[in-house]
Amino acid sequence: EKLATGPHEIRPSLRLLFLFIFVMGVAPSPALTAGCPDRCVCDDQLVVQCAGQDLTQFPNDLPLATRQLIISNNRIEDLPALQLNYLSDLVYLDCSNNSLTEISESTFGNLRKLAYLDLSFNILVQIEDRTFGPLASLVMLRLTDNPSLREIHPDAFSENMALQVLDMSRNNLTVLNISSLIALPALRSLGLSSNPWRCDCDTEDLCLWVLDPSGQTVCHSPPELAGQRVAEVGMQLRIDCHQGLGYWDYLFFIAIGFVIFSAGTVSAWVMGVLMVLYERYRKRKSEELDSDDEDERGGTRSDDQRLCDEPRLHCRSDYGFQYCNMLFNILDKQSVCTRVSVCACERE
Ligand SMILES: *[C@@H]1O[C@H](CO)[C@@H](O)[C@H](O)[C@H]1NC(C)=O
Ligand SMILES: *[C@@H]1O[C@H](CO)[C@@H](O)[C@H](O)[C@H]1NC(C)=O
Ligand SMILES: *[C@@H]1O[C@H](CO)[C@@H](O)[C@H](O)[C@H]1NC(C)=O
Repeated sequence: EKLATGPHEIRPSLRLLFLFIFVMGVAPSPALTAGCPDRCVCDDQLVVQCAGQDLTQFPNDLPLATRQLIISNNRIEDLPALQLNYLSDLVYLDCSNNSLTEISESTFGNLRKLAYLDLSFNILVQIEDRTFGPLASLVMLRLTDNPSLREIHPDAFSENMALQVLDMSRNNLTVLNISSLIALPALRSLGLSSNPWRCDCDTEDLCLWVLDPSGQTVCHSPPELAGQRVAEVGMQLRIDCHQGLGYWDYLFFIAIGFVIFSAGTVSAWVMGVLMVLYERYRKRKSEELDSDDEDERGGTRSDDQRLCDEPRLHCRSDYGFQYCNMLFNILDKQSVCTRVSVCACERE
């Protein structure tokens, strides 16, 4: 086989050069020079209008600077992440009334300026975790009238800090975890009406939280609550779902038990001390009387010995009379004499 000769080599490189010139010339101002996709109308305000054109695919060759893209009322089945993410200046995207079945995590990966997104009237089935994550500027999201949409990930909107209006009416939702919605600082309008809500302990939070001025947000199941407004069954669910004792209830009972126990212990201890002091006081009184007696009789025995006289015990103490006397009074005399070595009293 022959290697390519001179002219054959030149032609591809010329083509590359032309391509290079084309890209350099076009890319910076595509809205002005790249024209407009088939069946769409583009204006100098960077609005591209392709509504109701029976498109089955996302339009090709969109101006890269497009601000506003309207592709509603077509039959588009897929939003291609690659083409969409070239449009990094996109602020407004209306994809309503198409045949979109799924939105992937990367679909909106680069649309950081997007403020308005309409995905209504499609056939989406579920919304996953990171789908809307990159849309840091999203203010309004319309996600209504997707009759098969039955699952929205709890964290689907958790990063959309600018989100003010979220409409999820007329879908097929039975449950919705509102933990991340509650945390959205700017959210002021939430549409949940006309979904087949299941009003049980899983949706209790939703039922308690939702304000439903339209009265269209009603329970679909269980049968006994069917047709009742979600906002009205919230309190009933709270009562029904928390009949058992909760964690804090148990903690409360333990704390109360502890307080009663300590109060009992302390008062018993105080009583004991008072009784001991009283005993000691009485004993000292009688000793004073005794010693008076003995002084009168001219006795010479030590205090220790005298202490043990009464129960016929002999007291031998290394710690002096005061300490021995105290133990002697607190404990009964027998145990001082048998168990407490510091003040060992021995039978004579
Ligand atoms: C959806 O688009 C079709 C045309 O493609 C139109 O006939 C129909 O009325 C639209 N539906 C809604 C709800 O806008
Ligand atoms: C809605 O969801 C239920 C199950 O939750 C399912 O049986 C029904 O077919 C769904 N409706 C549509 C239109 O997909
Ligand atoms: C709701 O979602 C959050 C975050 O994913 C999770 O921690 C929490 O347990 C969920 N709540 C319910 C009731 O499923």
